[in-house]
Amino acid sequence: MIIAVDGPTASGKGTIAKALAEHFGLPHLDTGLLYRAVGRQVFLDGRDPDNSGDALAATSFPDTLLNDPHLRSEKTGGLASRVSVHPAVRQALYDRQRSFATQPGGAVLDGRDIGTVIVPEAQAKLFITASVEARAQRRFHEMRERGAAVTLAEIAEDLRRRDDRDRNRKVAPLVPAADAMVIDTSALGKEEAIAAAIEAVEHVR
Ligand code: C5P
Repeated sequence: MIIAVDGPTASGKGTIAKALAEHFGLPHLDTGLLYRAVGRQVFLDGRDPDNSGDALAATSFPDTLLNDPHLRSEKTGGLASRVSVHPAVRQALYDRQRSFATQPGGAVLDGRDIGTVIVPEAQAKLFITASVEARAQRRFHEMRERGAAVTLAEIAEDLRRRDDRDRNRKVAPLVPAADAMVIDTSALGKEEAIAAAIEAVEHVR
């Protein structure tokens, strides 16, 4: 079984994808990490994330970069969102995602275009969403715990900017697949959101 989990930043899709992988005994790929690695590599190269050629060159990042703690930062998230608009970058990352998804036994992938572009034939497609306010609150608490000095307003502004870029890009914009099951996690706790996702997948299994 292939499970595709898409949705905006801080919607809970990563947590849900990880829990689904554990529950169904499947391997999991966080595809955002690949785009983050490209964003980080462009930065390390001192190149321009908005230039398609510079961003494409960064797709040959070394595998060890995937363990770099900087990949999780807001700054790298912003760079990832910029490099991910280039069709050449998306194409370069396609095979890696596609072969992970189609490995024998199945897999769980989370991202923005898993159900629409990477594995449109996935049996289970979830689109995880939540209001900007709920997502900003979650991100705010996470970052405060890590000791980051940020305000709620800055986080909400950053989320809006990234949503806007992800939804309005020409290639593989963030939209639910026509046959995706939409789960709004705004009013759900973590365990409730996970339970709703497991139930949705059981339903199509
Ligand atoms: O999910 P995460 O926040 O780690 O993704 C970082 C950025 O990478 C997103 O804002 C999005 O622009 C891009 N991305 C993408 N397609 C994916 C996963 C991530 O365009 N499948």
